[in-house]
Amino acid sequence: MAKYQAIQQHLSTHRYRWLITGVAGFIGSNLLETLLKLNQSVTGLDNFSTGYRHNLDQVRKLVGPEVWANFTFIEGDIRRPEDCARASQGADYILHQAALGSVPRSIKDPVLTNENNITGFLNMLVAARDAKARRFVYAASSSTYGDHPDLPKVESKIGNPLSPYAVTKYVNELYAGVFARCYGTESIGLRYFNVFGPRQDPNGAYAAVIPQWVAALIKNQTVRINGDGETTRDFSFIDNVVQANLLAALAEHPDAVNQIYNVALNERTSLNQLYHMMRSLLADSFPHLAEHRFEHVAFREGDVRHSQADISKATTLLGFEPSHRVAEGLKATMDWYKKNLADADVLPDAAKPQPAVMRM
Ligand SMILES: NC(=O)c1ccc[n+]([C@@H]2O[C@H](COP(=O)([O-])OP(=O)(O)OC[C@H]3O[C@@H](n4cnc5c(N)ncnc54)[C@H](O)[C@@H]3O)[C@@H](O)[C@H]2O)c1
Repeated sequence: MAKYQAIQQHLSTHRYRWLITGVAGFIGSNLLETLLKLNQSVTGLDNFSTGYRHNLDQVRKLVGPEVWANFTFIEGDIRRPEDCARASQGADYILHQAALGSVPRSIKDPVLTNENNITGFLNMLVAARDAKARRFVYAASSSTYGDHPDLPKVESKIGNPLSPYAVTKYVNELYAGVFARCYGTESIGLRYFNVFGPRQDPNGAYAAVIPQWVAALIKNQTVRINGDGETTRDFSFIDNVVQANLLAALAEHPDAVNQIYNVALNERTSLNQLYHMMRSLLADSFPHLAEHRFEHVAFREGDVRHSQADISKATTLLGFEPSHRVAEGLKATMDWYKKNLADADVLPDAAKPQPAVMRM
């Protein structure tokens, strides 16, 4: 992690202005926590469509009031160009995370996904260009590989998209490339592969597999495993994703810029393996798990069978070195859920103290 350490060292003595869109979400709030701990000045934009005030509250508690003063929150919507322009003003680096995630959600409502993920993305690119931000780093997705059969996935070889969500994430890459060519807007796209970690939302129909199963395991509900459970994913712990964002923002070599990178581990974990790992990590705190049951249900529409990333491009050009393998990341994540699923941080927003908000 030599490169990442050097960047952290640099940031601890140089303060930049960052914009994080989707800051109240899972990945956005983790980026916020890291940047504030590095004494950076951060603006965050979110409309709370899938993010939560309690995520911001938790970061505030973790960093303390003095450091929290370096954060400005703007409640706004990337579908509105004026919100994007205002949030981007003066930003050195933009980490664009705001989007509607979930393949099934996009199949149910492709228009809404398109508005947030394509129109919203384009609005943010325009705002980054006009604000003359040094770099625009954005959340791309492994869904862009679609039906391409090769494993592990290499950035240059993609197939046909299998969902509206995948289309939106691919269009993001196309727009970023066009903005580099037409306007010189520097960008880097990070194709995340199944990210997990603290503050990932366990609630709702579109929850990701790990938080959804944690909630079911803790509540002693049946876990439903899609298909035969031999579907595999390259699960990626949040700290690795935060590292990739910072490396991408501060990468200096021209060859590293205006590129797309896989962000994962180059490891495959099946759903069956995942279930057993999670259950054993939680078993000491929840004795009922000795008897816990799961069932296999139908395969999920739009899902790819296997996913595994070649991460050599990020390793070579960005100096990316994942700090956590799956087992280490799962341990940290299960510890967080044990503590937080039982306490006030997951109360509904109405019951929580509200952070200062600048309305637009
Ligand atoms: N979590 C993963 O495994 C994963 C994998 C691949 C890509 N991604 C991408 O990473 C990004 C972050 O994902 P996440 O897991 O943190 O999801 P999340 O839902 O927790 O966070 C997204 C945040 O964006 C906000 N948002 C959505 N639409 C908005 C809008 N129109 N205006 C302003 N804010 C808006 C939401 O309120 C939320 O706080 C997304 O772009 C997602 O597509 C995530």
